[in-house]
Amino acid sequence: MLTRTKEILTAAKQNHYGIVAPDFWDLNSARDFVQVAEELNAPILLSFAQAHKHLISLEEAAAVGKLMAASVKAPIALHLDHGEDFAYVKRAIELGFNSVMIDASMNPFDENVRLTKEAADFAHAHGVDIEAEIGHVGGTTESPTEMEEVETIYTRVDEAAAFIEKTGVDSLAVSIGTSHGVYKNNRKPELNFTRLQELAAAVPVPLVLHGGSGTGDDNLKRAVREGITKVNVFTEFTTAARDAAVEVVRNEQLKSYMRVQQAADEGIRNVLRHYINLLTK
Ligand code: 13P
Repeated sequence: MLTRTKEILTAAKQNHYGIVAPDFWDLNSARDFVQVAEELNAPILLSFAQAHKHLISLEEAAAVGKLMAASVKAPIALHLDHGEDFAYVKRAIELGFNSVMIDASMNPFDENVRLTKEAADFAHAHGVDIEAEIGHVGGTTESPTEMEEVETIYTRVDEAAAFIEKTGVDSLAVSIGTSHGVYKNNRKPELNFTRLQELAAAVPVPLVLHGGSGTGDDNLKRAVREGITKVNVFTEFTTAARDAAVEVVRNEQLKSYMRVQQAADEGIRNVLRHYINLLTK
């Protein structure tokens, strides 16, 4: 059931559990995510990232997301992840996303505030909840043609508190040592939990951790215990789908494309089951 992000995150923050925000990139992944939410009776932020617009258009993502959210009883927010510009965020809201992120975190503080406030005012005027980022979660970003490395900038506590006051956003993505994509050499990252505790004490709204894939279960569980309310995950779904598909092609007599897709879907569902169970218990 389409549900406000504020409702989902407020309940989670109060009761100290974590919400998973999985990024979908097609009909199947969106369906897999809401099926697992329903099976585990758990709320999720069904997310679509602007960076994936070459895979599925915003119009398609909105139609699929609304349909999927309405098809289950579990609370589902339809969330635009990493909105890169105001026009795209505005269009997402007009199409029915009830939750958005504006990510202007690559800009200097004042410009980040200006761009975020513009999007926040529009979102709030339309009854939509908004997330923004301060500091910057780096990592490997996959564009249609290349992999791009982006540097991580840790979130400063004074800036985070001032940013909330100036922009009025409903949740805040912070940078404490995770990065997007798969970690080099499969090493688990070292998170700055001291910084997280300070941020949690200084910032009144729910905190968001991007770059969930490869962070490690212990790190994620501790991050939720020490102040993170939402964890974003994308890359691990794609690697699980790929590995499950490769296994079918290698091992099964019946190499039907439908079997490959079924296996990929089950791989995706298993990853989400794992993270919901990890962060809600
Ligand atoms: P990962 O791909 O590292 O899981 O990061 C996802 C993310 O943060 C999307 O916003």
